[in-house]
Amino acid sequence: MVGTAVGRRGVVLGGLAAGALAGGLPLPRRARAQTGVRVGLMLPFSGTYAALGANIADALKLAVEEQGGLLGGRPVEYVELDDESDPAKAAQNASRLVVGEEVDFLVGTVHSGVQMAIVQVAREEGVMTFMPNAGIKEATGTLCAPNLFRTSFSNWQPANACARPVFEAGLKRAVVMSWDYGAGHESAEGFRDGFTALGGEIVSELFLPFPDVEFQAQLTQIASLSPDAVFVFFAGAGAVKFTADYMAAGLKDRIPLYSTFLTEGTLVAQGASAEGLLTTLHYADDLPNAKNQAFRPAFEAATGRIADVYAVQGYDTGVALAVAAAAVEGDLDDQPAMIAALEAHEFDSPRGAWRFAASHNPVQDFYLRRAEGGLNRFVSVAAEDLADPATGCEMG
Ligand code: BEZ
Repeated sequence: MVGTAVGRRGVVLGGLAAGALAGGLPLPRRARAQTGVRVGLMLPFSGTYAALGANIADALKLAVEEQGGLLGGRPVEYVELDDESDPAKAAQNASRLVVGEEVDFLVGTVHSGVQMAIVQVAREEGVMTFMPNAGIKEATGTLCAPNLFRTSFSNWQPANACARPVFEAGLKRAVVMSWDYGAGHESAEGFRDGFTALGGEIVSELFLPFPDVEFQAQLTQIASLSPDAVFVFFAGAGAVKFTADYMAAGLKDRIPLYSTFLTEGTLVAQGASAEGLLTTLHYADDLPNAKNQAFRPAFEAATGRIADVYAVQGYDTGVALAVAAAAVEGDLDDQPAMIAALEAHEFDSPRGAWRFAASHNPVQDFYLRRAEGGLNRFVSVAAEDLADPATGCEMG
């Protein structure tokens, strides 16, 4: 499918091999300044992380609709591209949006490996770029840049916040397990940093290729290591298979399982295999703040789906676009003014209040949640106002 106009979704780009865009070349930038704001959405719309991409995109659009469908007083056109969570295609896909489609704002993505290529293109082209999920530390660390903003988290943050609840439950020997890519390794690092600083011991770290879901070999190892607790990073469709396999292996009632994203957006599919699991994230479904109470029914009415952390991140990305565009009254060439407005903004979000650190990664609270009856319910604040270390970030 190439350049097909599809209702409110705007233009959806097909795969890389698809060839030239239908409808001819995009308008020159100057001509478009009088017309619509082009928002490029580079997200996974297929594969393991497809549901995450859909919730980010639809919640972002909801936030823009709440602004009357305008950004800086101008109508909005979305250009969507399915990145398939495939790092090998990522640089070409990002260039296609930025250079080929000349989007004004680039929004992407979910997978940390794909994010690295987006960051590279964003730094080369200078386009205003918003990262609505992927937590790879370099993006707001060694590769941070004035035009790069993350509206989600760094992989280190929720994993680090999980260490204390595990340790304080009296569990001192832990096994870590994840996919063998940036998000998995940085989640392991965040948990390890926190857990060993408290006096805990990491007995073993087990990895398998992304997006494999054949967990049996690692589960057999866990059973024989018999740790006090297991900490994992899995998300999306892979998380559903993991909790089912953990329970089927007889481990759910034997070795407490902790995580960050394991139960996020997947509870209906996970059923009994996720019931009671404890996780730490920057959102809980039942947060009692007014924004959350308005957001959840609005998202469900717009999409027919239940909100989750990915939807919240997409919504806040839409708010960030609105803040930037409003600060320059739609004159998107004034990048310094947009950056200053974002750096000064206090987000009043369904997740609670948050702001950008100097590295442009969120400073925010992390919550301990318990999966109960289809919701990730608030238990306590696991880490208050937590910032990523942002090692190596020097804003140029
Ligand atoms: C990541 O690749 O950074 C990621 C993917 C899914 C959920 C959270 C993080």
